[in-house]
Amino acid sequence: NDSVYILGIESSCDDTSAAVLHHRLPLSNVIATQKVHEAYGGVVPELASRAHQKNIVPVVYQALAEAGITAKELSAIAYTQGPGLMGSLLVGASFAKSFAMALNIPLIEVNHMQAHLLAHFIEDDAQKSPTFPFLGITISGGHTQIVKVDSAFKMDVIGETLDDAIGEAFDKCGKMMKLDYPAGPIIDKLAAKGNPTAFRFSKPKVEGLNFSFSGLKTAVLYFLQRETQKNPNFIEEHIKDICASFQYTAVSILMDKINAAIAQTGIKNIAIGGGVSANSAIRKALLEADAKNQLIAYIPKFEYCTDNAAMIAIVGYYKFKEKDFAQHKLAQARLTI
Ligand code: KG4
Ligand code: ZN
Repeated sequence: NDSVYILGIESSCDDTSAAVLHHRLPLSNVIATQKVHEAYGGVVPELASRAHQKNIVPVVYQALAEAGITAKELSAIAYTQGPGLMGSLLVGASFAKSFAMALNIPLIEVNHMQAHLLAHFIEDDAQKSPTFPFLGITISGGHTQIVKVDSAFKMDVIGETLDDAIGEAFDKCGKMMKLDYPAGPIIDKLAAKGNPTAFRFSKPKVEGLNFSFSGLKTAVLYFLQRETQKNPNFIEEHIKDICASFQYTAVSILMDKINAAIAQTGIKNIAIGGGVSANSAIRKALLEADAKNQLIAYIPKFEYCTDNAAMIAIVGYYKFKEKDFAQHKLAQARLTI
């Protein structure tokens, strides 16, 4: 029969994930988030690979069990080939290669960034898929890009960060305020109760569609140093306003570039992805612009925004249809860091 079942495996950073898709329909999407990094205020690569090694088999078993299929029914295995942390990628790649060999089914290499963009095509009642061409906005702890997407396989990066990723700016500013890691969602919550214009942080001047977030981070750092010299309790007393003002500036930097990209390309379909697309101020800004017909916003379900294997499997499905397989029998499956 022509039923296609793809097992997706994602291990590029600190989430071990496995998912089974029946064509574009997700049957399971299991995500084991590693807690070990919280105490360190950031992802520790060595600990991440160890945790992947521990999690990978149980996570894959659970994904198959929840999907209600056996490994023998799988059509192919898709895994994240990069970009990501070397040790983390190796665990997923080695597992995927071995499993595909044992089952004698094709192995499919997936680029993590392409997967964030094609996550919009996972079939789910709670999300609508964009039409081509669209502008993919990938915003996470590791990436900040504007990508012109003409088809599932034709994508061009037309803007990206020259330094820190937007999520990194959230996490690092949060660390300055002694917030737990990852600070992005905590800042989002605190900001909701603060005044976004309480403090002013200037926006960087970057040509074209590229971004810079390290200047904002430094501006917040100097501001906090100056204020805590005058009042040691400044951060505790003003945390909501600091968060709201920082977030307001970060969102405004992002929206400026999205508007510039729309003006430059004439494309109004805006599809966001990556962990930071969970941010409520970004969602609000996009939905408001959508309501004013300035753009058409596509915001995926949260579980498809952050790193997950369903997005790896959807790329796997499109590549499967093209018979775009890695040559695992020749041990040529590659890694890109
Ligand atoms: O895509 P993701 O799970 O992993 C990668 O970095 O690839 O994204 C994680 C990032 C972290 O920086 C986290 O702080 C940020 O997404 N994040 C948020 C929110 N939820 C997650 N940033 C701002 N507001 C949020 N609500
Ligand atoms: Zn990611």
